[in-house]
Amino acid sequence: MKRSRALKPLSSDHHQALLIAFQLKQGLAGHAESAGAPKDLPGLLALARRFEEQLLKAHMRSEEDLLGRFIAAADMARLRADHAELARLMDVSRTAAPGELRANLGAFAELVERHVRWEERELFPYAERHADEATLATIAGELEKRLVLARSDSKLARR
Ligand SMILES: [Fe+2]
Repeated sequence: MKRSRALKPLSSDHHQALLIAFQLKQGLAGHAESAGAPKDLPGLLALARRFEEQLLKAHMRSEEDLLGRFIAAADMARLRADHAELARLMDVSRTAAPGELRANLGAFAELVERHVRWEERELFPYAERHADEATLATIAGELEKRLVLARSDSKLARR
């Protein structure tokens, strides 16, 4: 799917998000070596938390702030509900016992994948059809500020 230039920073984050979800799932399944993932639960939690702090929070806020004007209300409700659930899973993971932590990280990885797939396949194409050029240009500028320039010295590799 060809992404409009305006939404590219979000899609680039999605690429990273899917990689993290893959690493979490491989690590939880005991295949950490093949995915370059941490082997133990504390390492996997640290990976997820780093992802949340360095990428996910600003990403979710940007989507909620910028997409609202031209997606359907029901879609915005789903967007917010998915984001809230991702934040909740990370929140409870901070103090979870190992069994619960394992379940939470698995649920987090699953939801990241499902949510990204929905945004890329349904939500963004819809948004691109319903936003005019001027709106897309405004969004592009805002995303550049929030997701590209703000992170230019972060350790996360960007493409
Ligand atoms: Fe997203």
